[in-house]
Amino acid sequence: MEKLKIGVLGSGKGSNYRAIQEEIVRGKLNAETRVVISDVKEAGILAAARAYGVRAEYVQPGRFKTKLEPEAEARVVELLCGAGVELVVLAGYMRMVKAPLLEAFPGRIINIHPSLLPAFPGLEAWKQALAAEAGETGCTVHFVDSGMDTGPVIAQRRVPVLAGDTAERLHARIQVAEHEVYPEVVRGFAEGIFGGAEIVKARGGK
Ligand code: GRF
Repeated sequence: MEKLKIGVLGSGKGSNYRAIQEEIVRGKLNAETRVVISDVKEAGILAAARAYGVRAEYVQPGRFKTKLEPEAEARVVELLCGAGVELVVLAGYMRMVKAPLLEAFPGRIINIHPSLLPAFPGLEAWKQALAAEAGETGCTVHFVDSGMDTGPVIAQRRVPVLAGDTAERLHARIQVAEHEVYPEVVRGFAEGIFGGAEIVKARGGK
């Protein structure tokens, strides 16, 4: 099978991106990162991409905090399409995805969220889990739709909340699980196990 061409969007340190890229480098994931895009100029994820020799692009987000300016999102679509991206991987991308991007990649955008959705959507989900005194939490990989962390679930990993956990410790434990499950899910797409007709079509199938 041909390599799955992925494009990654992130706003932060990029540890999930690195976990995926490491699997590619090790020859354990039949994929190729065509471009990494960030709305944060100094984001670690862009530095990580450059360190791997992967194209890194900053897109100026514009005046909104929770979404990209329409022109900026159009630029993101242009970059992804121009790079021949088949699957868009959100990895710590801190804005809502809007119509231009959703319409350009229907059924082909995935995200990772640090809770067992539908529990604790939104920001700092591990802090929400602590505040709710949940006995366990985890992480979820899901398809992206126009809602906040609402798309169909693809895979989840459970993580215990331990006595005396701080927000940092719990988040770190969730991230260990994220770094296992996200590359596995991308591998599922690369091997045709996950993904619907949209992916098959994007990859030249019928
Ligand atoms: C992760 O915890 C992910 O679940 C959330 O944002 C964080 C990104 O971390 N969406 P990183 O930039 O991949 O290290």
